[in-house]
Amino acid sequence: MEEQRAHWSSSVGFVFAAAGSAIGLGNLWKFPFITWENNGGAFVIVYLLCIAGVGLPIMMAELLIGRKTQKSVVGALREAVGPAWGLVGAWGVLCGFILLSYYTVIAGWSLYYFARTVTWTVEGFPQGTSLGEIFGEQSANGPLQLLLSLGFSAATVGIVYLGVQKGIERIARVFLPVLFAILLLLLLSSFGMSGSGEALAFIFHPHFSELDGSSVLEALGHSFFTLSLGMGAMVTYGSYIARDQSIVKASLWIVLLDTLIALFATIIMFTVIFTASMQDQVGGSTVGMLFIALPQLFFQEGVVPFGSVLAPLFYVLVALAALTSTISLLEVVVAYAIDQHGIARHKATILCGGAIFVFTILAALSFGSTPIISTMEIFEGKPGWFSTADHFVSNWMLPTGGLAITTAAGWFMTREATESELVDGTEPRWFRYGVWRLFIRFVAPAAVAAIIIRVILGGDFS
Ligand code: PHE
Repeated sequence: MEEQRAHWSSSVGFVFAAAGSAIGLGNLWKFPFITWENNGGAFVIVYLLCIAGVGLPIMMAELLIGRKTQKSVVGALREAVGPAWGLVGAWGVLCGFILLSYYTVIAGWSLYYFARTVTWTVEGFPQGTSLGEIFGEQSANGPLQLLLSLGFSAATVGIVYLGVQKGIERIARVFLPVLFAILLLLLLSSFGMSGSGEALAFIFHPHFSELDGSSVLEALGHSFFTLSLGMGAMVTYGSYIARDQSIVKASLWIVLLDTLIALFATIIMFTVIFTASMQDQVGGSTVGMLFIALPQLFFQEGVVPFGSVLAPLFYVLVALAALTSTISLLEVVVAYAIDQHGIARHKATILCGGAIFVFTILAALSFGSTPIISTMEIFEGKPGWFSTADHFVSNWMLPTGGLAITTAAGWFMTREATESELVDGTEPRWFRYGVWRLFIRFVAPAAVAAIIIRVILGGDFS
């Protein structure tokens, strides 16, 4: 006898869970940094266009495939498009597996910085501390890295183990409001700092002459990562949507929340940096901004009011955002094991979580603690398991998965099949199916194909 499929308890619960998946390190760690690197302004506008013109239609496509079939990604693509499409689903499951294996490591750093900033808040910030050195030491400390990522993996496994409603949805319902509250508090306090005007101008004042083709493709590539698209996370979450819950409305909310959080985080970070005139010291890496420049600025006198209190809160925010994303990654793999191999949820969660952790060990030891793992080089200029995996996922797996999913929804599924999911009486009145179809058939595939061509020609978006 088939067990009844679990569903989200309500549309709000679903939006929280899916927004929790979307909002993550991509918003707090990657987006501010690439905005910095690409000189803000024009890049942000292009990013918003990519989110609206490519991300949103693909979000709807993934959710509709999930809701229609009520199956996780492999079964869903098989049923909605055809048996061979199961392979695309399997590619997505593999992507979830690899992405989770290294994502956990950065998530673990947020736990470390939480603990560290609490100590500094209580005992005072030791003058003359070099945050660059602290970062280097912690990331090269193998046992510490293993402990942090084990802790994070255990939390992820624990939540997915409890299931769709009792685990994933319940955690998102509690964590997301807390995350918003912390972020708003930080945002309000950033408006009181002297650098806020300069930061806002940097982020929102466009200089189109500074924009080149590769920035556009970077914005596009990031819109996949940040919205959790291209690997079946949204197909899987979509498979738990009940028939009376609207895909169009939910997609709009998820995309809107994700974008707002990315922008808020960027405003906060840049305000702090401009207030302290630290523009030159942000460092040439994503890590530099979140784990080196920021902690220092929180504790530097006269930069962030109540900085020593806000600092630990900030790292709680990063940890919560990361956790609601890691659970969605694990769910992709677990739901596959449950649906396709008939393994019970509890067993599937432990087995999949354990298997992924083996690779997390490799990622955790990629920062100098274990020379072979830190220096292995498959892709030129990407030493270490961590960078190798990140490069492969961001450059190859997400764009190719995304291309397959848009073509599936736009060209291989019939008009009736997609229309009946989107236009079912739950959609907002202004929604036009024809516009979605135009974007999913032409705009989105062309844009994603451009990323893939660029990667083949040697571009790098990790
Ligand atoms: N969207 C998440 C982030 O921005 C990452 C993610 C990608 C999560 C794909 C699930 C699936 O951090």
